[in-house]
Amino acid sequence: MRMRRIRNSKILREMTKETSLRVSDFIYPLFVVEGVGIKKEIPSMPEIYHFSVDKLEEEIRELEELGIRAVILFGLPDHKDSHGSGAYDENGIIQKAVRKIKEISDILVITDVCMCEYTDHGHCGILDNSGNVNNDKTIDYIAKIALSHAKAGADVIAPSDMMDFRVRKIREVLDENSYDHIPIMAYSAKFASNYYGPFRDAADSAPAFGDRKTYQMDYHNSDEALREVSLDLDEDADFIIVKPALAYLDIIRRVKDNFNTNLVAYNVSGEYSMVKYAIKEGLVSEDIIYESLIGIKRAGAKMIISYHAKEMARKLKGE
Ligand code: PBG
Ligand code: ZN
Repeated sequence: MRMRRIRNSKILREMTKETSLRVSDFIYPLFVVEGVGIKKEIPSMPEIYHFSVDKLEEEIRELEELGIRAVILFGLPDHKDSHGSGAYDENGIIQKAVRKIKEISDILVITDVCMCEYTDHGHCGILDNSGNVNNDKTIDYIAKIALSHAKAGADVIAPSDMMDFRVRKIREVLDENSYDHIPIMAYSAKFASNYYGPFRDAADSAPAFGDRKTYQMDYHNSDEALREVSLDLDEDADFIIVKPALAYLDIIRRVKDNFNTNLVAYNVSGEYSMVKYAIKEGLVSEDIIYESLIGIKRAGAKMIISYHAKEMARKLKGE
């Protein structure tokens, strides 16, 4: 057998390709800030911007032209407190952004539901007296935030806090309020990762003390990730997110092999910025982006949340 017979021809290589990417595989993250007339590049994330609500339209039109059909929103409030009240404020930054986008476009709007951008201590929930994040108090807030996003018009709710039972709680509250048609995209296997560094600058969400290891997963573990996924599916999650992606391709593959679900991989900020800086320095070709994203798809992800979505859309169009 000569394996090179097929590799010899460009057409045969194309025809025998096992994995491909489509623009519609991508979900593009957007960071929204208070103020007017703002489109400001985020220092830790080249070519990614903070947008004020009035500047979203231009960006959404660009995404539509590129064929990108879904966004996930992150908000930076101008007020933070111990209970993250900006997160469920009817006139909070996300609520305003969702209303604006749904007014001008039918692009799918997914909202990240968490508290770390809105709490003055930067943790993803409500602290008890000892400074520990209280699970059961937090999920009441998480559900309240989810409901306020749904009321603003969000199409999909994506909780990223990693509290236990939050999917069930959100499902209950949405259903009670006639939002039983809104799907939940759960960050189920979210690891306590160093790859979130640039995002925490971008979203101003770094914890003021300690770390997130009491709620996000320990990256030594893979069986435990399956357990998390299984619990979230029992709680009726419609989509499962594995996050980060590139150092976690084995997790993506195991989830893919073990569960019949809509699997999403989050190609996170650290993965993005490392590649962008390496390209800038001339260390690697920009084709490394496509190669990495193919790797995520090959591992078993159906959809990819990625800051590279626009560059990929341009590349895929050009082919
Ligand atoms: C909020 C949240 C984080 C990310 C998505 N939602 C940061 C964190 O958990 O600290 C990370 C995304 C990225 O790095 O691109 N909980
Ligand atoms: Zn958080």
